[in-house]
Amino acid sequence: MIDVNNLSVTLANRAILRKISFSLSDGEFLAVLGPNGGGKSTLIRAILGLQEYEGAIKYTGGDKTIGYVPQIKTLDRSFPARAEELVATALKKRWPWSIDEHCKGVVSDALRQVGADHLIRQQIRNLSGGELQRVYLARAIISQPSLLVLDEPASGVDVVGASDMLEFVEEYRKKNNAAVIMVTHDWEVAFHHASHVLILKTDQISFGSASEAMSETAIRTAFGHVGHSHDIFGGGHVHA
Ligand SMILES: Nc1ncnc2c1ncn2[C@@H]1O[C@H](COP(=O)(O)OP(=O)(O)O)[C@@H](O)[C@H]1O
Ligand SMILES: [Mg+2]
Repeated sequence: MIDVNNLSVTLANRAILRKISFSLSDGEFLAVLGPNGGGKSTLIRAILGLQEYEGAIKYTGGDKTIGYVPQIKTLDRSFPARAEELVATALKKRWPWSIDEHCKGVVSDALRQVGADHLIRQQIRNLSGGELQRVYLARAIISQPSLLVLDEPASGVDVVGASDMLEFVEEYRKKNNAAVIMVTHDWEVAFHHASHVLILKTDQISFGSASEAMSETAIRTAFGHVGHSHDIFGGGHVHA
């Protein structure tokens, strides 16, 4: 599905990512963990072709597009558009000033799938973070991508919103045998849901199955502490 080989990104003479290598197959779920500024969003941008890099990224998902749900805090909310138009941008090469009946049907179907059909006529500036994220999720799945990429889908969203989103993503993955790459700060989600975990802090701290990659040493190297992750480390209370 996707093969990343020795990926490095340098911005303003500073290494942002250094020799990142991993691969992911159809149906697999990769959680990307790391501290703020660790390069997670930069990795996502490179995968989406929005960021120049050294090394190689090989995407073997055919001509299928990649579905992308951006990090909410980076979104421009002042943009005058309705949810319907935002979702329709995934179907058009230009801004959909007018949306034909067929397209309207596809858009409302995608919104319905993510439980956001009631938002269709809403201006995006009036949506909560969780609602806007659902609209972006509808936009991401509209072309039934074989790879779904989500950048911190739980941040700025309440707990219910976050677990609904995760449930939907899991359902989508299983139904379509799609691969998922999700940047998350939630170690529990990574540990219990992901088939693979990648920990980044400019360098690749670890990659493997959740239990391999999320060793106490790896977590400590990336974050400087192991927080409240005692469930992950076999029930013993571990504190930095
Ligand atoms: N255009 C840019 N020019 C210089 N540095 C940048 C640019 N974009 C991001 N960075 C830096 O790259 C580092 C990694 O950012 P990012 O990938 O957003 O981290 P994360 O998503 O893990 O929090 C940060 O230190 C950030 O300041
Ligand atoms: Mg980020």
